[in-house]
Amino acid sequence: MSNEVGTDGGDAGAEEDQARADAGDVTRTDGGDANRVLVCDVADVPDGERVIVDVKGVEVGVINVDGELFAVRNACPHRYGPVCEGKVTNALVGTWPGVGQRLEESMTGDPAIACPWHGWEFDLATGVHLGDADYSVATYDVVVEGDGVYLEL
Ligand code: FES
Repeated sequence: MSNEVGTDGGDAGAEEDQARADAGDVTRTDGGDANRVLVCDVADVPDGERVIVDVKGVEVGVINVDGELFAVRNACPHRYGPVCEGKVTNALVGTWPGVGQRLEESMTGDPAIACPWHGWEFDLATGVHLGDADYSVATYDVVVEGDGVYLEL
């Protein structure tokens, strides 16, 4: 599923935005914050599901994990793969005590997503690569208001 969204850049108020959204043009803001963009309805993203939306020309995945919504840019920093189409699991983290020692791995309760192209994994909340903090995908704050899911840009 793909929704096209964006702000109109004008001074449209909340009622006008709502009317446009109801008419099928999903361009809508909350009327008070030009950087808050409606991207889909809550019903579009049930638990365990995701949608890829277009936000001002940028693909963003909105992903529901156990009722919590995450938003991640759908462009992997490795080779720009569609990271938001990847498998979601709890993050597996490891520490290496040193030469001659075994890697100590443990699962966290934090959700992570694995890019389907080459498997790079990222924390869904922060976007940071699980193995190398020098890499990350952009994340967005998600706000649910009424039946709408908004991103803070
Ligand atoms: S493009 Fe994502 S891991 Fe390579």
